[in-house]
Amino acid sequence: MIEHTSIKSLLKGEVAPPRNIIVKGWVRTIRTSKNVNFIALNDGSTILNIQLVIDSNTPAFEICQNISTGACIRAEGTLVASQGKGQSVEIQCNSVVIYGTADPEKYPLQKKGHTLEFLREIAHLRPRTNTFGAVLRMRHQMAFAIHQFFNDKGFFYMHAPIVTGSDAEGAGEMFKVTTLPLENPPRNTDGSINYMEDFFGKATNLTVSGQLEAELGALALGNVYTFGPTFRAENSNTPRHLAEFWMIEPEMAFYDIHDNMDLAEEMLKYLINYALQNSKDDLEFLNQMYDKELITRLQSVVDKPFIRLTYTEAVEILIGFNAQFEFKVEWGTDLQKEHENFLVSHHGGPVILTDYPKHIKAFYMKQNEDGKTVRAMDILFPWIGEIIGGSQREENYDKLLSRVTEMGIDEDEIWWYLDTRRFGTCPHAGFGLGFERLMLFVTGMTNIRDVIPFPRTPKNAEF
Ligand code: 4AD
Ligand code: MG
Repeated sequence: MIEHTSIKSLLKGEVAPPRNIIVKGWVRTIRTSKNVNFIALNDGSTILNIQLVIDSNTPAFEICQNISTGACIRAEGTLVASQGKGQSVEIQCNSVVIYGTADPEKYPLQKKGHTLEFLREIAHLRPRTNTFGAVLRMRHQMAFAIHQFFNDKGFFYMHAPIVTGSDAEGAGEMFKVTTLPLENPPRNTDGSINYMEDFFGKATNLTVSGQLEAELGALALGNVYTFGPTFRAENSNTPRHLAEFWMIEPEMAFYDIHDNMDLAEEMLKYLINYALQNSKDDLEFLNQMYDKELITRLQSVVDKPFIRLTYTEAVEILIGFNAQFEFKVEWGTDLQKEHENFLVSHHGGPVILTDYPKHIKAFYMKQNEDGKTVRAMDILFPWIGEIIGGSQREENYDKLLSRVTEMGIDEDEIWWYLDTRRFGTCPHAGFGLGFERLMLFVTGMTNIRDVIPFPRTPKNAEF
């Protein structure tokens, strides 16, 4: 029997010519002439196409009349060493079967380049472009590398719930989950909605972070990580924000902030290096098409230690350059994109900032002795800005409870979280890596909508 072979394995030289084979895929281009037709075929296994050669003396020649860019075909023939330049092997076809034609008058992806904006409108077809093929293959590689990294270190993958009653970040940017009728919900005597009658018997929302549950895991299994979708109903229409994004959240018992920074830096370098080693063809394409500095920039991040500064040190630097900022910096202000970018370019690479003022950070962060700052850490990346946010956690019950009360968080909503500090508490730390921010960095794409298959942003949930 003749085997269906992936184009990647043929081009990688895994099959020695001459050999009878079958390939299946989508036509990228077809060139026809009186004596011979050439088809560039792609099956998604690699960004590279294989060349099909169809001579006029084969039955397949006639069929080519109905083949145009975008058609899906099965081709059978002999793998031979290529005569032409640009490829090592090609296929001399003797039979071609059309699975699906693509009317050239109507098929939106003709061979000419399309803008990324246009491709977003046809997100159902854009995986068939070189760009999105590359991005989607690299997304897979990065997801796989994340599991590899943590598994090699003995971390356990833990699944945090997607429907929850808590607001881990305390930012109130949550999507409600309910089965109550919107037009006429049951109400309490004071007019408020009676969530006791809702599906879960309480008010629930889509999770903004799996961290609180990951902490429960770390306080039993030692080192865990979550990797799942998270949701934020913030109305930020920026190239860095999605309403639905994937987050990786490791949580480690007995880690302090320094161990936390070390792990985060090691992980980012591992992932970037993994991309350099395992996504060569896709990276070369993206480097060539969009960003000539991409591969150099990835390499430079792997090679150098990240700069580590406290928030206070960073503010001292920034104040010196206040004249050039739209938002002036003083101690206590939350840093804006322009300040993060400045710090990164000032130091020529990634910067880790720690010990932020407590009033701009979440309730769970460990409080410093100074009473003003918490053991937070943010990692700022060239192009991206914040790629990781994390902290050492407050493990002291009384201190945690006083922050919960100060920030007006309902104690009854997170009694289970507080319980871990009452029973066998321990120092621990963790962080969250935004998967799409990582993807922006490794692909060199500039809009976060172009590194996730089907982006969810304000006023946009098509496909
Ligand atoms: O800084 P954030 O809000 O931290 C947390 O959620 C913590 N619970 C993490 C932890 O300590 N376990 O979010 C973490 C990261 C950010 O640094 C950013 O990379 C990404 O998640 N992120 C977003 N990515 C895309 N779209 C958004 N709207 C994002 N919000 C945060
Ligand atoms: Mg953050």
